Amino acid sequence: MSGTTKKILVANSKGGCGKTTIATNLAVAFANQGLKVSLLDCDRQASCLHWAEERDAQAPNVKTVANYHSADKLAEQIVHEQDNDSDVIIMDVTGRHTDASLFEEALKASDLVLIPMLASSLDIKAGKRFVADLMTHRVMRATPRPIGVIYNRAQNNSANKQRLEDFLRCLGVPVITEIKDSPVYVNAVEAGAGVIEMRENAAANKEYPAWRDIMLWIDRRASGRRELPRPIQAGRKTTRANPKQARIS
Ligand SMILES: Nc1ncnc2c1ncn2[C@@H]1O[C@H](COP(=O)(O)OP(=O)(O)O)[C@@H](O)[C@H]1O
Ligand SMILES: [Mg+2]
Repeated sequence: MSGTTKKILVANSKGGCGKTTIATNLAVAFANQGLKVSLLDCDRQASCLHWAEERDAQAPNVKTVANYHSADKLAEQIVHEQDNDSDVIIMDVTGRHTDASLFEEALKASDLVLIPMLASSLDIKAGKRFVADLMTHRVMRATPRPIGVIYNRAQNNSANKQRLEDFLRCLGVPVITEIKDSPVYVNAVEAGAGVIEMRENAAANKEYPAWRDIMLWIDRRASGRRELPRPIQAGRKTTRANPKQARIS
């Protein structure tokens, strides 16, 4: 069993906040660093699986598996991925209210938690509740893990955003970065790609710094950490998804 597998939970009880978008782009970022990535889709909508079906066979591999059946099955799958020397396991999970036992299992397995959040007032209300619930969850109280919020489709100068930042600051939860509202994310999901693979696309290039922030944050906080290999320069150019390896720089 690999003792150095990073296990990352991407979660929020709110639908549509960007869990699958973040989970798939994160998986791509790790895969493009030459790491062995397992993406565990714990949502019945199975959006990660649909994404994986569209992925170019030549692109860096992201093993994508459905894991919404039961907490026990998820636990088994995590052991299986670790036994197969997976470097990174990413879990896309709806949240504790929809399936408490599945959420608890994913949380127990995780080294750190990423919470995508939108800046609408409803999303912020739900997000605040989710963060508060997460921080008081018995698994977190027994073994605290780093939590980071990613603002998805962030709007500048929003009063809601300021209120959320103030709330998170009180709890000591950092906002890792902001992700723009951009069609490149929709295009990437539809193409089974990540934005960092769309290197000929100017809007996608603008997203690189955000992904670098996220990768750095993870690398600094994940337990069992080790040096990540340097990203590999890609060769082929395309305006769609780049099926070869991309770099975040
Ligand atoms: N930053 C973004 N810019 C534009 N569209 C986005 C962005 N993030 C997510 N979306 C779109 O919003 C919808 C919901 O995102 P998704 O990742 O599926 O959320 P969740 O998995 O939390 O339900 C999808 O259609 C997705 O393509
Ligand atoms: Mg989803």
